Amino acid sequence: MPKSVQAAPAAKTTATSATAMSQDALLKMAEKYIPGACVGSLYLPANLRMVMTRAEGSKLYDAGGKEYIDCMLGSGPLVIGNSHPQVVEAVQRQAALGSTYYALNEPAVKLAAKIVEAAPCGETMRFQTTGSDATEGALRIARAATGRQKVLKFEGGFNGGHDSTQFSRSSVEDLLHPESVPDSDGVPESLRQDTVIAPFNDPETTVRLIEEHRNELAAVIIEPLQRSLKPEPGFLEAVRAATEKHGIVFIFDEIVTGFRLAWGGAQERYGVVPDLACYGKAVGGGYPVSAIVGRAALMKLADPGKKGQGGPYCFLSGTMTANPIACVAGLVTLEVLEQPGTYERLFAIGERLADGIRKAARKVGVPVLVAGDGPVLQVHFTDRKELRNHRDLLKTDTKKGSQFGLEMISRGVYFTPGSKIYLSLAHTDRDIERTIEAAEDSLKAVA
Ligand SMILES: Cc1ncc(COP(=O)(O)O)c(C=O)c1O
Repeated sequence: MPKSVQAAPAAKTTATSATAMSQDALLKMAEKYIPGACVGSLYLPANLRMVMTRAEGSKLYDAGGKEYIDCMLGSGPLVIGNSHPQVVEAVQRQAALGSTYYALNEPAVKLAAKIVEAAPCGETMRFQTTGSDATEGALRIARAATGRQKVLKFEGGFNGGHDSTQFSRSSVEDLLHPESVPDSDGVPESLRQDTVIAPFNDPETTVRLIEEHRNELAAVIIEPLQRSLKPEPGFLEAVRAATEKHGIVFIFDEIVTGFRLAWGGAQERYGVVPDLACYGKAVGGGYPVSAIVGRAALMKLADPGKKGQGGPYCFLSGTMTANPIACVAGLVTLEVLEQPGTYERLFAIGERLADGIRKAARKVGVPVLVAGDGPVLQVHFTDRKELRNHRDLLKTDTKKGSQFGLEMISRGVYFTPGSKIYLSLAHTDRDIERTIEAAEDSLKAVA
């Protein structure tokens, strides 16, 4: 029953922002007020729940005083590590100048220039706030530009939390493509009918589906590195050629890969240039800002000056759009990433960790496949020699994958169980060694 507005106010909690509370008390409060006592989709069993209080470099600290090696990186944004001194300084300076303006501002204009210059598909861009806003806006631009409704996405791919892409990310059914399965209850059936699902790394089936739906498809949206699965040579190229042939907008979801796999993101790393790319996570340096970047002819549809001029026009906005604190944090983050040696370092530690986990698994006698690219890794429990797509992943032991993550958290390495491990420039060689040691013990526990 909703609370009665007439009822006398219930006894209020005495906690204020200035009260320091114990972890146990905070967890009890979270259990009372937050379903699942969790943040996002990261549900942890009660014995592993924590309340974070502080983060610095490669480490996180909870209210019980426990230290964690941070392989979550805030679900990805912190590619240069937590509380980087240059980011902290820039954010503090900007906070004193104003928190948000809903107006052009110096950090935003400079960040826009940096992103457009770095993105191989970049001609112009619009700001959004979250990664989901960016992919949603890019799909809107594609629908407005083509006058078509359908979107092709890939089985097992994640393209944000909005309704239009909540299909066939986690489906376990072996349905015939292009059938889609909603990932959540509450998603409109009409959107399901407008979603075509294709298998990642299968150029023949994907191109056939594009051909079949060529007159209805507005866009093909893809995570170029799908979760931890690399695109095989020729796959992205085939999708690029088919979309180009039929005037379908090809969208790279670079929310994870942007500025992480290379300065020019997955476009540079895999050598394929889409029509639009969506950036988030790293471009805000841990603060909320995202971007839709791409061909000027498409981006101009989101120019509010075009509204009512007779052609197509797309509404894109948000209260926090181009928030100056987020933009300055992003700008400083990109300036750090732009330094020579960044990507060599990220890839070197990624390979060292992947090799270390493989060796540990051999020693323990558990078959695993460490997938991913550079500073993005995932440990899959399988004796397969390769994993190409979502259906291959379903044949791995996903229960063990989750259990491994929980064991890692209990040993002080923080990432989403059953999901990706992220590395940052702040991770030291010693952090990598400690993570490998924790992985060996966790593999023993899982075995
Ligand atoms: C590939 C991809 N696209 C889009 C999103 C959505 O970004 P956000 O959570 O900022 O809305 C995510 C988030 O994890 C992502 O991994």
